[in-house]
Amino acid sequence: MTRPRAYITRRLPDAAVEILRRDCEVEMWPEEQTPMPREALLRAAAGADGLLTILVDRIDQDLLDAAPRLRAVANMAVGYDNVDLPALTRRGVLLTNTPGVLTETTADLAWALMLAAGRRVVEGQKLIEAGGWGPWYPMQMVGQDIYGATLGVVGAGRIGAAVLRRARGFGMSLRYHNRRPAPAIEAETGAQYRDLDAILAEADFLVVTVPLGPETRGMFGAAQFAQMKPTSVFVNVSRGPVVREADLEAALRVGRPWAAGLDVFEREPIGADHPLLGLPNVVAVPHIGSASVATRTRMATLAAENLAAALTGRAPPTPVNPEVLG
Ligand code: DGY
Repeated sequence: MTRPRAYITRRLPDAAVEILRRDCEVEMWPEEQTPMPREALLRAAAGADGLLTILVDRIDQDLLDAAPRLRAVANMAVGYDNVDLPALTRRGVLLTNTPGVLTETTADLAWALMLAAGRRVVEGQKLIEAGGWGPWYPMQMVGQDIYGATLGVVGAGRIGAAVLRRARGFGMSLRYHNRRPAPAIEAETGAQYRDLDAILAEADFLVVTVPLGPETRGMFGAAQFAQMKPTSVFVNVSRGPVVREADLEAALRVGRPWAAGLDVFEREPIGADHPLLGLPNVVAVPHIGSASVATRTRMATLAAENLAAALTGRAPPTPVNPEVLG
């Protein structure tokens, strides 16, 4: 029997490749850091039964048109805004993602950004590196307390809940906003539901964990930042386009919010000349929410398990559109 053909669009750890090799003929883009050019991706898709993709691969109607054999796409990310899901579903192509395995790692990074932005950690290091650390003085580099503050989480999915859970040791008051109230999260963490306007006004630390979609694109702009406290810290670990970046820059310049911690940007990667990087009250990292060794390895192996299962008639562990399986 001929084995299905799987194509991996970025060099992955051996453990993931081995999972696919058990059931499939596997080809892989050999580069770890350089993305596949679009033409090469379309050529690879043309001969593939399944693709293991990463979040920078655009999986759209054009790709589907070029890929007559394609039956499954396993995206190595929990987010899948790089994929035209309705187009895949219309064609009967299965999409899988990697939920669950990156929850805690991403919540850790949200906290790293809260702490770093609130307590001016990066600014402090830059000051020392620039030779600017003079004699101690009482109000030198004063920041915002995390302990005892009000944490607001917008997006009460797995990651949002994990961010809230971590607040226990910090004596924080907890608020959350979501499309609809989440009683399980309220019961577990004691967080209280607020509408968006109320959470913007109440939060000392506002952490965004919503998925990117038509309802959340551009969700945070000038009108929202104007409602935040002048002492507040805004943290985004979801997707860049949920924030209108020019508005955030203008808002940070006038100190409302007081600071921001950002893992994601409207157009990634950003360069050293990005306007937000010029602001002392911004802590920026390069989309590393899930970037621990264990978690990135587990995301890769889960994506491989999904694709191998989908191509051999087994139930994939984490399907996005299981309805195509019939
Ligand atoms: C995701 O999984 O969607 C993250 O952004 C990358 O880990």
